[in-house]
Amino acid sequence: MRKPIIAGNWKLNKTIAEARELAAQLTENLKGIEDREVIIAPVYTALSAVAEVLENSPIQLAAQNCYPEISGAFTGEISPQFLQDAGCQYVIIGHSERRHLMAETDHFINQKMIKVLETGLKPILCIGETLQERENNQMLEILSKQIKGGLANFTTEQMSTVVIAYEPVWAIGTGKTASTEQAQDAHFFIRGLVQELFNPEVAEQTRILYGGSVKPDNVDSLMAQQDIDGALVGGASLKAEDFIRIVQFEI
Ligand code: PGA
Repeated sequence: MRKPIIAGNWKLNKTIAEARELAAQLTENLKGIEDREVIIAPVYTALSAVAEVLENSPIQLAAQNCYPEISGAFTGEISPQFLQDAGCQYVIIGHSERRHLMAETDHFINQKMIKVLETGLKPILCIGETLQERENNQMLEILSKQIKGGLANFTTEQMSTVVIAYEPVWAIGTGKTASTEQAQDAHFFIRGLVQELFNPEVAEQTRILYGGSVKPDNVDSLMAQQDIDGALVGGASLKAEDFIRIVQFEI
């Protein structure tokens, strides 16, 4: 059985005070939650403050990115080691906004994945095709390239802590969700690819999250799909009420 994960990606939103307040509302309303993992990813500057609020709560902390070195002369960057120091358990890697706005390559993403694992943190590897790629029938090719690139040289053991998030770029922040069938088809393909690259056991236990306009009113049908093991939520994770409802999905 794969334990579902609901992760909130706050992107570049919420000051320290606002982040504390939202985290406090979540801890208050999601006490004792055990059958699903809940993760929130505030901006770097709010990580320590939110970590304090999350103490004694089952909610876990994630960062939205990192640099693939531990420490040294890397002005302006942050490493997995420092994220761990700030209280993180997870790191989101290769989000489409980073791939597209910051031109991150699969190779760079792979280096980050390796460093995150070396530090003992858990990576959430984001992949997904653009609308143009989908319309040109390149979706499977793109997903395959991003998976193979991001997980290059990974051992089966390393793969066992990796979470994958499928986020079709055309569905992020647009209000357009992939249909449950489109999402399930992509997740089924990704799981097959993990099986091909590793083995059936690893494929069976790898959690694959869906992201892209997940909302209280579509989470239940998405989560009912066989290969959808959770959600990576952007916009709707900024409102306590909506995120709490998403965490409390029912299938
Ligand atoms: P969205 O963002 O829920 O606002 O579409 C999802 C994401 O980018 O992770």
